[in-house]
Amino acid sequence: MEYRRLGESKLSVSAITFGAWAAGGWMWGGNDDQEAIDAMLAAYDLGITSIDTAPVYGQGKSEELVGKAIKDLPRDKVQILTKYGLRWDLAKGEFFFKSKDNSGKDIDVYRYAGKDSIITECENSLKRLGTDYIDLYQIHWSDKTTPIDETMEAILRLKEQGKIREAGVCNYDVSQMNIAAKTIKLAANQVPFSMVNRAIEDELIPYCIENRKAILAYSPLERGLLTGKMKPGQNFGEGDHRAGVKYFKDQNIERTNAFLAKIKPLADEKGATLGQLVIRWTINHPGITVALVGARNAEQSIQNAKAINIHINGEEMEFINNQLSDLEIIS
Ligand SMILES: NC(=O)c1ccc[n+]([C@@H]2O[C@H](COP(=O)([O-])OP(=O)(O)OC[C@H]3O[C@@H](n4cnc5c(N)ncnc54)[C@H](OP(=O)(O)O)[C@@H]3O)[C@@H](O)[C@H]2O)c1
Repeated sequence: MEYRRLGESKLSVSAITFGAWAAGGWMWGGNDDQEAIDAMLAAYDLGITSIDTAPVYGQGKSEELVGKAIKDLPRDKVQILTKYGLRWDLAKGEFFFKSKDNSGKDIDVYRYAGKDSIITECENSLKRLGTDYIDLYQIHWSDKTTPIDETMEAILRLKEQGKIREAGVCNYDVSQMNIAAKTIKLAANQVPFSMVNRAIEDELIPYCIENRKAILAYSPLERGLLTGKMKPGQNFGEGDHRAGVKYFKDQNIERTNAFLAKIKPLADEKGATLGQLVIRWTINHPGITVALVGARNAEQSIQNAKAINIHINGEEMEFINNQLSDLEIIS
């Protein structure tokens, strides 16, 4: 495995980090607890020492499963990345969206990053994770009802108390990062980035390179699409959010698969799967520090972890980028 430092912080994480959203089942049509734990442990055995989770993933479930998975691992050899700022148990802040929890019960998700709420959320996460500190603590989505400096003040207090090691953000734009930087030194920003979603290339990547901030790329497999396994007419199970996501429209699946067919010979030449080639392309991309990759079971997570053994040279990166320039995703 390769380990990369997050910006100018002291925290290093595995370049491929386990993403534990689907592990919590919520918005992914359910989960199997044991398979989720096995997936995390199989990843750890191959050097994936870092796990990204969030309270809202399964309304506590994902964090609890992470806690179970790491229970017998040496704490100082594992990095826990979790989040705050999305509440489903408190109607405060900015309404975000309606959803159903894993048992089918209606829930309302709010963006709320007020000071007291963060302190409570942190205590709850520590309990669920079975630990006394979080390595990287990230706001999940910005909350326009709370000034950014109030939020970051609370994070500073948690840092002083040793409850978190480093501060990060998710889904922040450059102006929000600049405001946060007045109160706290950020290590990283976690944002969507994949071969089919490169919106951050214009502003955020140049900013993070210049200001030495890490970028944690989320959904690098575009939620399974870039493994090449999706087919037009793809039938997602009940409660799987992918059914409503533009990348899974028939036309986009067709277009993406046509692109994947062009890079398949390169994957074959390297003895790699398409997913492995995609993950390596992601962590090779300038400005990208880490790929956060989700997996449902040990088989997927082993395959994903082994992407680290694939090497892509500059010419091959250019070849892939050239093929990508012909791919247009429709909204
Ligand atoms: N901060 C945020 O707002 C935010 C938002 C999204 C994600 N994230 C983070 O980023 C992580 C990764 O993103 P993601 O889970 O959305 O998407 P992803 O990593 O692009 O895709 C993960 C999904 O792809 C499928 N998959 C994974 N490996 C596979 C393999 N080897 N072969 C075949 N299928 C495979 C699995 O689903 P199926 O088997 O069901 O197809 C898996 O759940 C999340 O877990 C979370 O930690 C953060």
